[in-house]
Amino acid sequence: MTIVAPADAAAIARAAAILREGGLVAFPTETVYGLGADATQAWAVARIYDAKDRPSFNPLIAHVADLEAARREAALPEPALRLSTAFWPGPLTIVAPLAPGGAVCDLARAGLPSVAVRVPAHPVAQALIAALGRPIAAPSANRSGHVSPVTAAHVTQDLSGKVDMILDGGRTAAGLESTIVSFCEGSPVLLRPGAIARETIEKILGEKLSAPERAEILAPGMTPSHYAPAARLRLEAHELKEGEAALDFGGRLAARAEPGTVVLDLSPSGDLIEAAANLFAHLREFDARQIADVAVAHIPERGLGEAINDRLRRASTTKLD
Ligand code: TXA
Ligand code: MG
Repeated sequence: MTIVAPADAAAIARAAAILREGGLVAFPTETVYGLGADATQAWAVARIYDAKDRPSFNPLIAHVADLEAARREAALPEPALRLSTAFWPGPLTIVAPLAPGGAVCDLARAGLPSVAVRVPAHPVAQALIAALGRPIAAPSANRSGHVSPVTAAHVTQDLSGKVDMILDGGRTAAGLESTIVSFCEGSPVLLRPGAIARETIEKILGEKLSAPERAEILAPGMTPSHYAPAARLRLEAHELKEGEAALDFGGRLAARAEPGTVVLDLSPSGDLIEAAANLFAHLREFDARQIADVAVAHIPERGLGEAINDRLRRASTTKLD
């Protein structure tokens, strides 16, 4: 059941409580409506991908209260700080390397060592972030492949029944998503044109924005900037070979493992949302344990299974040897 409510103080308090419990809330920003979850809870973030029917885990924007909160998540270099002073709160998203101790979960970042942060200007978005007291991960509140919603009615059309609450704040002002600038390479890169014009940003920076690498556009997920584990992954495994650890699903491989084998189960009960929430953390755990070879159990190609398999395939094919 989806609650749709005018975004008054009582509704915002209720929405914050829903987010704190791992629920999903659609809310207005000055650009488009966002589909929000507590960015620190991987399980809640997994529900975003499920609701949107996203075939892959794109990294999400962490919406934060102010510059100070942004700096707890992202290591913002000096030019990024200048942009934040000029455009925050507002429709600018900055991608930068992770700050040590950042709270945004792996899944919201799609496992990347960088994070996208934005301080929205809309009073409802501001109030919701303040009430939660944590970053809110939010993509646009539309089904994957549909256009971004600028009214609560659009959100209802796409996501009714999939989201716990929709805060109605009327029509959004910009109607165009935020401009995204990345500070992960040497010079600033315009990842997505948006509500703030390129020229306006270049004026503040005092330099031109670069275009993203061609490879990044052609094959998102295959570039080195996308997370791949050091371990070699063998997909669709039905048994374990000698020396392999297991990335299991529903206890399939565990049943055949020798005692002492490292087995990490994405979801012992076979729940794909739980599996998505655990995916990046488990892959990191293999690397932390310096495991070279991992057999991966069959994961059903339905619901979030499609995105999980997409990521696993990319992670397994980046090994060239
Ligand atoms: O205006 C907006 O930006 C809206 C409102 C809700 O804030 N949000 C939005 O989110 O448009 P979404 O998920 O539809 O688009 C976010 C974009 C994606 O294309 C994603 O690939 C990129 O941001 N992105 C997020 N984190 C990134 C990262 N660490 N590195 C590179 N790209 C990133
Ligand atoms: Mg979108």
